[in-house]
Amino acid sequence: MRKSAVLEAVEGLVNSKDLCKALKGVDIIGSIAVIKIPREWEGVKHRVGERIISKLGVDSVYMQTAPARQGDRVRGLEWLAGERSTETVYSEHGCRFLVDIEKVYFSPRLSNERKRVAGLVGQRETVVNMFAGVGTFSIIIAKKKGAKVFSIDSNPHAFALMVENVALNKLNGKVIPVLADAREVTAELERTSDRILMPLPELAEEYIGDAVRMLRGDGWIHVYTHESSRVKAEAVEKAKSRMLKSAGRFCEVISADGKVVRSVGRNNYQVVLDLWVRPH
Ligand SMILES: C[S@@+](CC[C@H](N)C(=O)[O-])C[C@H]1O[C@@H](n2cnc3c(N)ncnc32)[C@H](O)[C@@H]1O
Repeated sequence: MRKSAVLEAVEGLVNSKDLCKALKGVDIIGSIAVIKIPREWEGVKHRVGERIISKLGVDSVYMQTAPARQGDRVRGLEWLAGERSTETVYSEHGCRFLVDIEKVYFSPRLSNERKRVAGLVGQRETVVNMFAGVGTFSIIIAKKKGAKVFSIDSNPHAFALMVENVALNKLNGKVIPVLADAREVTAELERTSDRILMPLPELAEEYIGDAVRMLRGDGWIHVYTHESSRVKAEAVEKAKSRMLKSAGRFCEVISADGKVVRSVGRNNYQVVLDLWVRPH
């Protein structure tokens, strides 16, 4: 719906045969719109931004200039219109999150997935979120289920915002923010938890052994990967066969369900696998 609102906003301003194809995407994060636009729109990009402000009622518009980079997963941005502020408050599933889109990874496109995972968690569980960002999954899980969540991120900006978000959502003592490379705290959290979240595709295979080590017995690991494939079902099968091999070195995988979370480019999918495992 927002994509169509943006298309309406730019109608008559840009010369494109197929506007819908040209507009590569729009994310609304609190009061900020982030858009991906083609090179042909370069000359009118600030006017496009202004139109979007009046059409969508946001305060700022930024253009994505580079995809999320390795490591902290922060994307490249250029200001287009409105307030020159990259900080905002984003609301999701009854929780509020301070976000700075220039300093931390954030995607509203994982909203359904965050809700799904929170729905799976039991009230007495202890959870480790190995790649927590500003604490989105962790806070929603703790708020909805009362579970205790160790919430790790190696980006100091994400950690600082996560600390604020825990207080904002009144979850002090329930969500425990940790500033570290997730691997560095594996020993400290060894055999503490019922469920592990690994929402960072690039480290999924490398850190799967660390995830298993933190389980106190049979437990769940939600692992995210990126798979190139033309067909969704094939992407899921590819993810399964690779992860079963990697995880199999550390645990018995009792069950493995998978699904595509979202498309992340042409013939490229983000896949989540819910692994029920028994550590060796
Ligand atoms: C894809 S984002 C997580 C998004 C978050 N789950 C959400 O829903 O908003 C991945 C996060 O992992 C963090 N990260 C990258 N390498 C890490 C590591 N070795 N240990 C801990 N965190 C790491 C990044 O700083 C980034 O915030």
